[in-house]
Amino acid sequence: MSNETLENLLHEDRSFPPDPAFTAQANGTADMYAAAEADHEGFWAQQARKYVTWSKDFTQVLDWSDAPFAKWFADGELNAAYNCVDRHVEAGRGDKVALHWVGEPTGDTRDVTYADLHREVQKAANALTDLGLTKGDTVAIYLPMIPEAVVAMLACARLGVPHSVVFGGFSAEALNTRIADAQAKLVITSDGGYRRGAPSALKPAVDAALDHADTSVQKVLVVRRTGQDVAWNDSRDIWWHDAMAAAGDTHVAQGMESEHPLFILYTSGTTGKPKGIFHTTGGFLTQAAYTNSVVHDLHPETDVYWCTADIGWVTGHSYIVYGPLANGATQVLYEGTPDTPHQGRFWEIVQDYKVSILYTAPTAIRTFMKWGSDIPAKFDMSSIRVLGSVGEPINPEAWMWYREHIGGGHAPVVDTWWQTETGGIMISPLPGVTNLKPGSAQKAIPGIGADVLDDMGEPVPNGTGGYLVLTKPWPAMLRGIWGDPQRYVDTYWSRFEGMYFAGDGAKKDDEGNIWLLGRVDDVMNVSGHRLSTTEIESALVSHPKVAEAAVVGANDEMTGQAVVAFVILRQGEGHEHDDNSQIETELRNHVAKEIGPIAKPKKIMVVPELPKTRSGKIMRRLLRDVAEGRAVGDATTLADSSVMDLIKTGLSNPSE
Ligand code: WT7
Repeated sequence: MSNETLENLLHEDRSFPPDPAFTAQANGTADMYAAAEADHEGFWAQQARKYVTWSKDFTQVLDWSDAPFAKWFADGELNAAYNCVDRHVEAGRGDKVALHWVGEPTGDTRDVTYADLHREVQKAANALTDLGLTKGDTVAIYLPMIPEAVVAMLACARLGVPHSVVFGGFSAEALNTRIADAQAKLVITSDGGYRRGAPSALKPAVDAALDHADTSVQKVLVVRRTGQDVAWNDSRDIWWHDAMAAAGDTHVAQGMESEHPLFILYTSGTTGKPKGIFHTTGGFLTQAAYTNSVVHDLHPETDVYWCTADIGWVTGHSYIVYGPLANGATQVLYEGTPDTPHQGRFWEIVQDYKVSILYTAPTAIRTFMKWGSDIPAKFDMSSIRVLGSVGEPINPEAWMWYREHIGGGHAPVVDTWWQTETGGIMISPLPGVTNLKPGSAQKAIPGIGADVLDDMGEPVPNGTGGYLVLTKPWPAMLRGIWGDPQRYVDTYWSRFEGMYFAGDGAKKDDEGNIWLLGRVDDVMNVSGHRLSTTEIESALVSHPKVAEAAVVGANDEMTGQAVVAFVILRQGEGHEHDDNSQIETELRNHVAKEIGPIAKPKKIMVVPELPKTRSGKIMRRLLRDVAEGRAVGDATTLADSSVMDLIKTGLSNPSE
């Protein structure tokens, strides 16, 4: 982030006090902060019993004796699927719509009630059992945004089988490493899904991912979504509808230990190897449901809630599947992209289903701004009463536009900071309580401790920046990195004594509000998706034409950051002064194949050298200057100070 942007951020003085009518009905209340402060464990015990039904109550709230390995509600037992489905049916709410599913092709919709979900989840749990899965096995899920994705996740949860959902935009390679790391026994996928008006295949990626003699996968369940042709392996592949038809109708949910793993979700870190972040049952469900209630202000009887994330990301886990379903919400589940078949698709959905709570990402909001406010203006969006933002910092102008053009000039906007690792929202205003400041996530929600520290580990005074840390254990905290406990300790708990290091830079304003400033490590945030510079560099150097590569995240108006790669080609493979557009395309596609289309560099620059310190570390700061078109900063620590000149001359060639 440039200093100029930072200055603007810190001079934000607009503020929006809550509307008393909103406050009167809000789930979050001002006194919760003090209550949680006074009795951290008591507060969370109260939330755990309020939002979750336990088949066996817990006696101990937090066990932190083996810190940083936490146990929450350890002797309690619960079933996450029972909490998300059965108990709503038992309470007579079976006819309530759980999912208003909207497929991408116009008119392709399906309403799924809680009773429907109950039937499907029981059948799916039986189908998985018939396939030999038992508690403790793992399953990979690689599906589009269709109801079966939710059913599959809940069926796994019901059996105590941790799921590892892999975003459909990841490649076969990425899927393969995730399957192998989690040792999944089963993959649940589909023939394909709809993307930008056309069917796009998924199963071929699974076939390629499993094309290894030593794969842990025994069976593949395939949902028929598009009807496109699929290659079929008779000894391995089974149609979902066949398995479901053969499965029994009823399945009794067993209670799981609170600390039984619920899911693994891979995310990028600072090394080339994605981390399997794993979450357990009781604490995760408690925080997902509680935050969905107080931050989104969900009133399940009257609200229609829509979180536009994909279930392949943590936002989909916490705020499509577990939080809202535990709360008995009625929600929209949309398969497609915001501009198919037209740029008003989201607002048409809001109008058709009377969506009252919308949770989306700043990159989407900025795109809508670019498309123009006349588009949402064509639709009746008077149902909207709460707006949420997640995934990256929201710039004040986007915040204002969101409130004005989507929220009718009155809906509170909550900017929610959290991570795959935190499992649930951590820093956010509470609608109806907080005096809102556009662009700031403001402060830790009740029950959460956050601070900003300087290099020495001291809290910074107001008006100053530093590193964001979490000061207390929280129920939905990651319990570790799958198969690598030491990496968990090293990554998150070693930078500052006794504190969780989030990897984000942050600043406190004059009132102590927290402003997130982006990652301080080699992690990029592109459209709210986390990507690792090292991972993309590894993908690039695995191409035979590349000798060396350095990747930076450059500021981008639309996507927050954009991937920019600097590559040195092997001898005889083109030259920095040549027209390298063909090689660049080749490399871009190579990254898509290795990781997925989301990781494709926006720009690839062929350079003769990379700027390195004497110890051989690439100075990405200087490359970022080049990528953002700025004057190159202090280069005195370079081993060879002429390198930056070489790079700039190479790039000044008009063919670039
Ligand atoms: C990283 C976590 C949280 C679910 C989606 C992303 C950035 C997230 C915000 C926000 C500023 C944000 C941080 C964080 N981030 N929300 N409201 N304001 N930055 O989950 O892929 O685990 O990424 O996203 O940099 O560390 P994730």
